[in-house]
Amino acid sequence: MKNRYKFFLKRILYYLYGEKFYKRLDYNWEKFPSRFEIIQNIITQQKYNNYLEIGCDRNENFSKINIQNKVGVDPLRGGTLRMTSDVFFKNNIKKFDLIFLDGLHTYEQTIKDIDNSLKILNERGVILIHDCLPKKIWNQIVPRMYGHWNGDVWKAIVHSRTYNYADTYTCIADHGLGIIFKRKNKNILKTNISNFKDLKFKDYFINHKLYMNLIDHQKLKELF
Ligand SMILES: C[S@@+](CC[C@H](N)C(=O)[O-])C[C@H]1O[C@@H](n2cnc3c(N)ncnc32)[C@H](O)[C@@H]1O
Repeated sequence: MKNRYKFFLKRILYYLYGEKFYKRLDYNWEKFPSRFEIIQNIITQQKYNNYLEIGCDRNENFSKINIQNKVGVDPLRGGTLRMTSDVFFKNNIKKFDLIFLDGLHTYEQTIKDIDNSLKILNERGVILIHDCLPKKIWNQIVPRMYGHWNGDVWKAIVHSRTYNYADTYTCIADHGLGIIFKRKNKNILKTNISNFKDLKFKDYFINHKLYMNLIDHQKLKELF
């Protein structure tokens, strides 16, 4: 029965998404520091004053951040402003030192949030993006259909790796933390991919070290 169920799910996957690929990455996120620990360490070490979080939900992360000024944007709950990231970026005039993107987990929204964040990031600042390393095909399928949802945020990281004016990495911690600095790209991804949305999970599984520019959390400090 269990095998028949699995077979049925795989058929749905194939017909809906045109992709049959069931291998998985074996990160055990419990062994790595949390997003909160990483964000707070950066704030303390870099003496940052201004924090923006896009997508706050139950304030699990937002409430723990200790900093002089913090703004949280979410259309449903949590944070300080009840609106979408698009509305926020359209009207905002403030600049930030650390921007944590954790809103709508689709490629299209995330690349828009990255581009908008780069415009309001202080020169010495950094953008962090949650959920960049899905372990299984199910975790990254859009729309959401299974347990922990990373969405296809990872495709926005691959895209930003091709910018020459942004320096992009992915820290191996807490479901994958994208890290973007507003400076010349030190390791530009040379690729002939023209539509990042069309990337498949199999491409990611095989190439994720190259695509995502992976780094260990111990190396994080050296990037600043
Ligand atoms: C994964 S939760 C955020 C979790 C939180 N950052 C944390 O670390 O605990 C995603 C949140 O993004 C919000 N969201 C969805 N679409 C959004 C959008 N277009 N702009 C901003 N936030 C959005 C949802 O309402 C949800 O609360």
